[in-house]
Amino acid sequence: MKYLLLLMFLATSSSSSAYEISELRVPLLADPRRAAELSCHFNMDQYRLHSVKWYRDMDEIFRYNPQQTPSIRLFNVSGVMVLGGSCQAARCEVAVRPAPVAARALYTCETSTEGPKFLIARETKAMTVAAMPTSDPVISGAPGAARAGEQLLLNCSADYSLPPADIRWYIDDQLQKSESWERSGLSAPSEGGLRASWRALRLSAAAARGALRVRCEAELPLQPPVRRDATATILVHTGTYPDKYVAGRGVTSIVNKAMFVIVIFWTFLKTSIFTSL
Ligand SMILES: *[C@@H]1O[C@H](CO)[C@@H](O)[C@H](O)[C@H]1NC(C)=O
Ligand SMILES: *[C@@H]1O[C@H](CO)[C@@H](O)[C@H](O)[C@H]1NC(C)=O
Repeated sequence: MKYLLLLMFLATSSSSSAYEISELRVPLLADPRRAAELSCHFNMDQYRLHSVKWYRDMDEIFRYNPQQTPSIRLFNVSGVMVLGGSCQAARCEVAVRPAPVAARALYTCETSTEGPKFLIARETKAMTVAAMPTSDPVISGAPGAARAGEQLLLNCSADYSLPPADIRWYIDDQLQKSESWERSGLSAPSEGGLRASWRALRLSAAAARGALRVRCEAELPLQPPVRRDATATILVHTGTYPDKYVAGRGVTSIVNKAMFVIVIFWTFLKTSIFTSL
């Protein structure tokens, strides 16, 4: 009796492993501007195929019933447009176009055999909606050379992507904490929901260092993250300007301030004359 049970167990386990989904192909990343192809290959063993169903998370998006007309039915669900598909005895392919939203969803292929048994086989893989940048970020506002103490405003612009890139600045390989007053932004979405992001960096060219190496890193927050970067080197000059020039600038600015005060005072006098009339 024991042996009989063991034999039965072996027989069922070997036959059930022959009826299976042998391969499920789902792209890891899908660009919302293009169709993504999903494919499912299965071994029916001695069974007859009853149906093949595709799901996005819990929602059915596609059904193939070889015994019915039409044999293929598509279901619209939020998050994906089902463009079409084709099925044969041992495989089923579906074309989908994900909504332009950076999201991850599980795609399941489920096969079922004819009754009375209706054996089910199922495989699932995740697909993340993303669109890669086609170029490195660009740093603008970085002069080749600067005076010690000079205030600089740099801007790093990342290419269009989905999700939009997070931008980080490094000076001599040190991450710059982003201050609340530092500006950053996103472009309007392009076709497929891609956006370009930018972040400004205010910095003071310090006197001690001969050169500043600034690096801007644009990262798409995916698993694993996708990074691209750009660098710029700014030479910093110290004490290379004659005193006369510096003093002259000082005098000019004092004269300008005095002129400004005089103009304000004169305007005030004129206004008070008019209002007193
Ligand atoms: C799905 O939605 C698209 C666009 O809204 C429509 O053209 C198509 O006919 C719909 N398909 C089904 C099966 O409802
Ligand atoms: C930075 O560049 C982007 C364009 O790439 C622009 O829209 C934005 O206004 C710039 N920011 C600053 C602070 O200059």
